Amino acid sequence: MRTFLLFAVAGALALWADVAVAQHHEHQGQSGEMDHMGHVDQGASKDTRQLVKFPRELIEHTMANMRDHLLTLQQINEALAAGEPEKAGKLAEQRLGMSSLGLHGAAEVAKYMPPGMQDAGTSMHKAASRFAIQAQNVAVTGEMKPAVGALSEVMSACVGCHAGYRLR
Ligand code: HEC
Repeated sequence: MRTFLLFAVAGALALWADVAVAQHHEHQGQSGEMDHMGHVDQGASKDTRQLVKFPRELIEHTMANMRDHLLTLQQINEALAAGEPEKAGKLAEQRLGMSSLGLHGAAEVAKYMPPGMQDAGTSMHKAASRFAIQAQNVAVTGEMKPAVGALSEVMSACVGCHAGYRLR
C-alpha cells in the first residue's frame, strides 16, 4: 500500500511538472510552433525546431557568439553575487544589449533569420538593455528583485529562440 501511494504521488508530480512546463511556454506567449518544445527530456520526443540555413562561416561565428552569451550570463551572475550591480549592468549592455549589435555583426546575420527568430534576437537585446537599467538602479534603491526579474527576461529570450530554431 505504501509503495503504491509513493508511485501515485510520484506520478501526480510528474504530471504536474509536465503541465507546469506547458503552461510556462504558453504564458510566454510565443508563436504556436514553439509551444511544448522545451520538452527534449523524454528521448522519444522528436526535434521540432526549425532548421535555419546560415552560410558555414556564419554558423561558426554565431556559435562563438552564443558561447560568449553564456559566459556573459555567468559573469553577470557573479557580479551580482559580489554586490557589483553596475558591473553586471555594463556587461549586459555591452555584450548582450542594444550596444552589442555591432559587436555581433547582427545586421549581417539577421538577413538569414526568419522573422520569428529576428524577433527573439531583438527581444533578447532589448531585455538586456532593460536589465542594464535595473542593475544601475540597484545602486540607488538597494532593491535587487527588479534586476533579477529583468535578468530572467533576458534568459527567457535565450530559451525561446533555442526552443524554436536550430542551425544544424
Ligand atoms: C535569436 C535566437 C537566439 C537567441 C536569442 C539566443 N540563441 Fe543561443 N543559439 C541559437 C541557435 C539557433 C543555436 C544553435 C542550436 C543548434 O543548431 O542546435 C544556439 C546555440 C547556443 C549555444 C551552444 C553553442 C555551442 O558552441 O554549441 C549556447 C551556449 C547558447 N546558444 C547560449 C545562448 C544564451 C546564453 C543566450 C541568451 C543570452 C542565447 N543563446 C540566445 C539561437 C539563439
